[in-house]
Amino acid sequence: MAVPLFNRKPLAWDSADLDADTREMLATLQPNILRSHVREHLTVLLLRFAVPADGRRFVRALAPLMKSAGTHLEEIRRFSRYGIRGTPYIGLGLSRSGYRHLGHEISDLRKFGDLAFQEGMKKRGRILDDPPSHEWDAAYQRDIHAVVIVADADAAAHRRVLARIRALVPPEARVLGEETGVAQRDKAGEGIEHFGYAHGRSQPLFLADQVVKEPAHDWNPFFPLAQILVPDPLAPDPGRHFGSYLVFRKLEQNVRAFQQAVQDLAEALGLSEARAGALLVGRFRNGTPLHLNPEPHPDGWAVRNDFRYGGDSGGRCPLSAHIRKANPRDGLERGVMMARRGQTYGVRTDQPWDDAPPETRPTCGVGLLFMAFNASLETQFEFVQQSWVNNPSYPAENTGPDPVAGQGPREVPTRLPEAWDAPVARAIARLPQTVTMRGGEYFFVPSLAYLRQI
Ligand code: HEM
Repeated sequence: MAVPLFNRKPLAWDSADLDADTREMLATLQPNILRSHVREHLTVLLLRFAVPADGRRFVRALAPLMKSAGTHLEEIRRFSRYGIRGTPYIGLGLSRSGYRHLGHEISDLRKFGDLAFQEGMKKRGRILDDPPSHEWDAAYQRDIHAVVIVADADAAAHRRVLARIRALVPPEARVLGEETGVAQRDKAGEGIEHFGYAHGRSQPLFLADQVVKEPAHDWNPFFPLAQILVPDPLAPDPGRHFGSYLVFRKLEQNVRAFQQAVQDLAEALGLSEARAGALLVGRFRNGTPLHLNPEPHPDGWAVRNDFRYGGDSGGRCPLSAHIRKANPRDGLERGVMMARRGQTYGVRTDQPWDDAPPETRPTCGVGLLFMAFNASLETQFEFVQQSWVNNPSYPAENTGPDPVAGQGPREVPTRLPEAWDAPVARAIARLPQTVTMRGGEYFFVPSLAYLRQI
C-alpha cells in the first residue's frame, strides 16, 4: 500500500496495523520534520565541498550517526513513559549546488520540482524583498552546499556529537559558517523569541498522538503528510522514501527598535504596552491570542490555539498582526501552513521577558534562525513571505505590512483598533522594520535511504 500522503486522518505511527510502506517511510525519514525535535542546544554548520569525492565521503560517514523519524518518535514515547532521554538530532540538508557538487547530473536535479529550490535563495531575494546578497553575513554570500543541524536537550551530549561531526568534515571541504541556537525562556520556563513572546505554538500537526491532545472546535490543527513531505526523487524508492524542503533564514531582531515602537504606540493610542505589543504580534507575551481576550489571560488560556477570526474585521486582532498575516485561519488557505522549527540565536545580558526600558535592549546580534519544512517552497514559505507578510494590501487595501516579519517599503501605515472589539480598525501607525534578513538558503532534506547509498 502506498504511503497515505493525503489521508484525512492523522498518522497513527505506532499502530500495529501500519502498512509496510509507511513503516519504511518512517524508518528512512529524517527527524524534526513530522514532529519537532528538542533543540535547546543547537548548532547549524554551513558546508561547502571542494570536489564530489569529499562531499560523498562526508555524507557516507555522517549517515550512520543519523537517527530516523521513527526512532525519534519511539524516543519521545520512552521519555514520557520512563524519563529515558533520547539521542541527539543530526539533520542534513543539501542545496541544489550541493547536489551538483556530489556529482549529480542536471537531469537528476530536474527531478526536484520546486523552482525556488532550483534557483536558490539569492536569486529569489528579489521577489522576497530581501536585502541584496552582498549585504548578507559573509558565510551566506558563498555558495552553501549542505547544512548540518545538531541539537539536543543536554549541553554535554550536544558538544560531544558536534565534535564528532566536525572531525568528519574532510580537509578539502570548508565550514563556511556556524550558527549557535540559544533557547530563550520566560519566567515560567516557556520558550520565547527575542521580542519576549511565547513562540512555536501554532503548528500543523500530523500525528494522531499529538492531534488527540488539541481542542479543535474552531481551528483544526491536523494536516495531511502531503503538506510537508515529497517523494525523494534520488532515493532508491521514491514511493517509500521521502524528504522535505527546508527554508533556512537568519533573521536579526533589533529588540530596542521593536520595544521603542511598542512604547511609542502605547503612548500615541493611550494603551498599556502589553496591549500595544499584542496589536503587533496578535498574541500577548504569554501567548494569549488577542482575538480571544483584551488582556493577557492567566495560565490555561495562554497557549490557546483553537480559534478563527470569523467576522472580526480587525477590531479585535488587527489584520496586520503578525500571526494573522502569516495565518489568516480563513479555512481557504490551509495548504500554505509550514512546519516551523526555528530557534533563537544570540546571547542576552538582559531578560527578554521583563519590562526594562527600550534603551537597555540589544539592537543587533540576536534573532531567529528561521527554519521551516515545506512540500513546496514556492507555494508555502515564499507565498506567505511575499503575498501576505510583505504585502501591505493583504488581506485588504491599506492593511499595512506585517510589523514583525514584513520586509520592504513601509509606505502604507498600519491600521489598528482604538479599543478592543471596535467595529472597524481605524487608528494608523507607521511602524519601523525591526527584523533584518542576514542570509539563508533553500535545502532539500533527503531520505536516509538516499544518504546510505550515496
Ligand atoms: C507565529 C514571532 C518570523 C510565520 C509567531 C508567533 C510569534 C512569532 C511570537 C506566535 C506564537 C506561535 O504560534 O509560534 C516571529 C518572529 C519572527 C518571525 C520574532 C522573526 C524574527 C516569521 C516569518 C514567517 C512567520 C518570516 C513566515 C514567512 C509564522 C506563522 C505563525 C507564526 C505561520 C503561526 C500563526 C498562526 O497559526 O497563528 N511568530 N516570527 N514568522 N509565525 Fe512568526
